[in-house]
Amino acid sequence: MSTTTKRAYNFNAGPSALPLEVLEKAQQELVNFNNTGMALMEMSHRSKDYEAVHNDAIARLKALFAIPDNYEVLFLQGGASLQFTMIPMNFLTQDKTASYVLTGSWSEKALKEAKLFGQTAQAASTKENNYRNIPSLEEIQFNETDAYVHITSNNTIYGTQWKNFPTTGEVPLVADMSSDILSKPVDVSKFGIIYAGAQKNLGPSGVTVVIIRKDLLASANTNIPTMLKYTTHSESNSLYNTPPTFGIYMLGEVLKWVEGKGGLEAIEKQNEEKAKVIYDAIDNSNGFYYGHATKESRSLMNITFRVADEELEKQFLAEAKAAGFVGLNGHRSVGGCRASTYNAVPFEACLALANFMVDFQKKNQ
Ligand SMILES: Cc1ncc(COP(=O)(O)O)c(C=O)c1O
Repeated sequence: MSTTTKRAYNFNAGPSALPLEVLEKAQQELVNFNNTGMALMEMSHRSKDYEAVHNDAIARLKALFAIPDNYEVLFLQGGASLQFTMIPMNFLTQDKTASYVLTGSWSEKALKEAKLFGQTAQAASTKENNYRNIPSLEEIQFNETDAYVHITSNNTIYGTQWKNFPTTGEVPLVADMSSDILSKPVDVSKFGIIYAGAQKNLGPSGVTVVIIRKDLLASANTNIPTMLKYTTHSESNSLYNTPPTFGIYMLGEVLKWVEGKGGLEAIEKQNEEKAKVIYDAIDNSNGFYYGHATKESRSLMNITFRVADEELEKQFLAEAKAAGFVGLNGHRSVGGCRASTYNAVPFEACLALANFMVDFQKKNQ
């Protein structure tokens, strides 16, 4: 490591770990970008230097995620949360129903927004099981006339992840991929819209990526505020107003880093290896630790687990914190422990956590 500061074992759920190489490159370029005598943040978003960064990030994302030509890539603001609103605002017309698969708090929030705009239905829900699993594809119910079917591909809070996606035919499949985008290859052509806040696998917070099929743009509602129309942004290459320029630059650098790692197949393999060491520590503990998610639905991005003894759980979290592990407290709505092992979290950090878990068990059981 070339920096003098020791890096934390960062298991934050988001904002979360960024690749050290990207941070260091940004540091080098921070004050004087491209020999312009200015920081990128100080430049006009209409300047040639910035436009090159902007277009390069779009092109790289298209190439890396194998996005077909009939899709637009948009860089928006307002987080994934604003997409909960923009999707029904643009696509839920009076005569239609939007179907939502409920797999956790984020899908509940998405559904709540859609209810403000029109008719909604639950395509499936695993709430009764405390969101421990993803429903089977057979359980998902929707109508051929639906405006769209909405899913959350990875449930950051409960630690579950879709392994296969439903086929929805003519009905657009819409996915909130905030917490697992770019963690593995995905067949983008199955989806009408994919959206993600950047602050997990893509870069810093402030940018929201939207990947949208072009024919949907043509069918969107027109009588809505300018900034909340997808067409406003698609028609202006996401430069209708001032975009979050530094965040988009960072996103581009993260994409270069993923390319350098060997692309999404290589990243997926690394993510599997990283998650495995921690899941093994849970599974081999004879019940000292137990996972929240059912095995088939386990996320490779957010590993949620409990220490069976509640007092020991508090001690575990306190000792882990003292040992330099950051962000291991479970979300306030679920409790327990959560290790977020996004793309930029190195294998060594996951191994260190697994070893810490095994040691803690030895000392305390
Ligand atoms: C799956 C998922 N969707 C949506 C959000 C909300 O994102 P934002 O804070 O960008 O609005 C989060 C945030 O953690 C998330 O994990």
